[in-house]
Formats: sequence, C-alpha cells, structure tokens
Amino acid sequence: MTDAPRDKPRRPATTLVAGGRGRAESFGYVNPPLVRGSTVLHDSVADMKARAQARLAGDDDVATYGVYGTPTHKAFYAALNELECGHRSWALPSGLAACTMALLAFVRAGDHVLVPDSVYWPTRRFSRQTLGRFGVDVTFYDPCAGDEIEALFRPTTRVLFMESPGSLTFEMQDVPRLAAIARRHDAFTVVDNTWATPLFFQPLAHGADVSLHAATKYIGGHSDLLMGTLTVNERAWPAVREAMHFYGMTTSPDDIYLAHRGLHSMAARLALHRSNADTLIAWLRGQPEVERVLYPALPDDPGHALWKRDMSGASGLFGVVLKPGLPAGALEALVDGVELFGRGYSWGGYESLLIPASPERTVVTCPWNGRLFRISAGLEDAADQLDDLARGFAALRAVR
Ligand SMILES: Cc1ncc(COP(=O)(O)O)c(C=O)c1O
Repeated sequence: MTDAPRDKPRRPATTLVAGGRGRAESFGYVNPPLVRGSTVLHDSVADMKARAQARLAGDDDVATYGVYGTPTHKAFYAALNELECGHRSWALPSGLAACTMALLAFVRAGDHVLVPDSVYWPTRRFSRQTLGRFGVDVTFYDPCAGDEIEALFRPTTRVLFMESPGSLTFEMQDVPRLAAIARRHDAFTVVDNTWATPLFFQPLAHGADVSLHAATKYIGGHSDLLMGTLTVNERAWPAVREAMHFYGMTTSPDDIYLAHRGLHSMAARLALHRSNADTLIAWLRGQPEVERVLYPALPDDPGHALWKRDMSGASGLFGVVLKPGLPAGALEALVDGVELFGRGYSWGGYESLLIPASPERTVVTCPWNGRLFRISAGLEDAADQLDDLARGFAALRAVR
C-alpha cells in the first residue's frame, strides 16, 4: 500500500514510483483514475454555498469545478509535493508558461525582477518585452554572481529568477546563497529546475520559494507532452494560487496522466541518460576539434563544486565547444552529418538530439557563439550514438 503511514521519509527514487498513488483513490488499481471533467455536481444550494465558501477560504481539496483540478491532477501534485518538499504544486500548458506565470504571479507595475543572463531565451524575451509593457523592470545578472548580487536589489525587487544550470551554457548558480539574499530583501526566489529534475535537486529545501519544471523534458520523457509545473512553499502559494485561478491556468487530465506516468520510470531513464552522456563526453573530449564540454558533473567544470554540494545527480544534457578557427560551415556540417541524433529544440526525451547554439547574452559575453552545440543524450545504445557522432565529425573534417 503506497498510502500507509510511514515511520521514515522515503527516498526520492521511491517517491517517483510510489508518489500520488493512494490506494483508496485508485479503487485498488496500481494507477490513479484518469478523470476527465469540467462540471462537478453539488447536492444542494447549501452544499454549493459551503463548497464555494471553503474554496474562498483557501481549501484546495474541495471540488467545485474542473478548472481547479481533478483527482488525476491531485495525484500528480501529491507526488510533486513530496519530491520537491513543497506545499502545493500546479501544472501549466508548457514549461514556458510555468516560467512566465511564476514571474507574473508576484509582480505589479513599478516592480523589478532579477533574471540570469543564462536564462532560457523565451523567458528572457518575456521578461524584457511583456513585463516591460506592464511597467515591470528587469535586470539581467551574471549567473555566477555570489554576494555581489545584493547590489542589484532595489526596494521594488519582487523576484529573483534562477535557472541552474543554464540550459545552453550550463553555469551552476549558488541557489542557497542567492535565495538567502533575496529573502533578506523580501523577494521571492524562483528556480527553473528542469535540468536537475526533482530527483537530483530540491530548490525549496535550499531556500527557494518556487521550483519549476518544463515537464516536457525528463518528466514526460517521451517527446509527446508539453507541460510546465510549479511547486511552491507556503509563503509563495497565495500569490501563485491567485494567478493560477484568476488566469484560468489549467491542463488536460490526459496530459497530467502522462506526466505522472513519466515520473514512475524517470530514475531508470535518468541513469541511462547520464551513463550515455558520460560515454559521449569521454569520446568528445578526445576529439582534436573540441575545446571543452560544458557539464557541471565534470570535475574540471567551473560549476562542479556547487553541483557536488547541492545536487545528487546529473541528467543527460550538455554543451560542446569547438576550438576557434574551424572553416566556415564546419559546425553546420557536423550537425547535418548525424543520422541517429535528431535536430530538434527540445531535450529530455528518450531520443538523442543535437543542435547548434548561439546564446544571447547582455551581461557576460558568450565567447563560443558559432562554435557551440548542445547534445541531449538519449537512450539508444551508446555505441551507436558514438558511431553517429563520428559520422558528424567526419562531415566536419570534410569541410575545407
Ligand atoms: C530550461 C528550460 N526551461 C523551460 C523551457 C520551456 O519548456 P517548454 O518547451 O515546455 O515550453 C525549456 C525548453 O526548452 C527549457 O530548456
């Protein structure tokens, strides 16, 4: 029975399998039911009033309407809350929606937010353009900043956003240190935790207020789902709850079911993503055209000490920097030369992907534009992945 009282907290890999699977709600089946529904029926006017009152008073367990989540949503949220040490969780239609709503939830005209220079580009665009239109100021900051970030706080700073590591250039952020500074300034800390997954890092346990995921990536795991999630502490829940309810942020129970199903196999998938990434990285570092690999799990990576201190594992996404001076078109030839690796913008699915990357930066110049590519190591046999990379490097070498 997965809902039996527990005398010891269970470990995250066990929660991935058992989380959100209460026996009572599942009618004895292993999986929770997939409940599709908009309308919830009430017994009487008195019942309608009582439930509406309870919801207004903050009771999130009472069912009044499908937009607030079905039992399928609640089962998934229970698993996320347990994994992320959270108070409440909510799902949104994409990872980007999770990023934008996590900012919108906390700000009003005249406020200010801090966003790392390494942030996922659409989050950068939203912060600059959309928040700007609403009179919210943004300052982009060096993701490697430590205490010096304090100077960037203003009395109006409401959100410190982090993405650790950055999903193109893989800078680790000092989440506990920065979150403590944000707390002193009465700002909310939001961490895009997609790379580490809820298995390897719990931002709320390190002082953040919101942990967000593009569940599209490793949680879904099969490139057939678009979803974002927010898991928040008690301090952040009133603002996030209001935003979710007032903006009508909801997700299909079918998608939630897929995300919850993805959690159950995520630890096993991540182990193979990681070991394939290690194999590919070892080979790549032996190629004369490769300058360096960006992956905080590598002992010589600048973010390694933070990674080792805070995270209990690594996923399979990393960057590769080619040496300067290669002929024009060499990177494109490599990317076009692979056959098993797909050329696609997402990551975290079972299939290997490889894309060129030219990150936009306004605070810390990226010295690698034009010679950086990113690999999402999939679950194929690593020997076939290596053969394919060799194909790509042969195409690169053929460019003169
Ligand atoms: C770090 C990070 N956060 C958020 C997102 C957005 O997720 P989605 O593609 O589900 O909108 C992505 C997508 O690539 C990402 O890399």
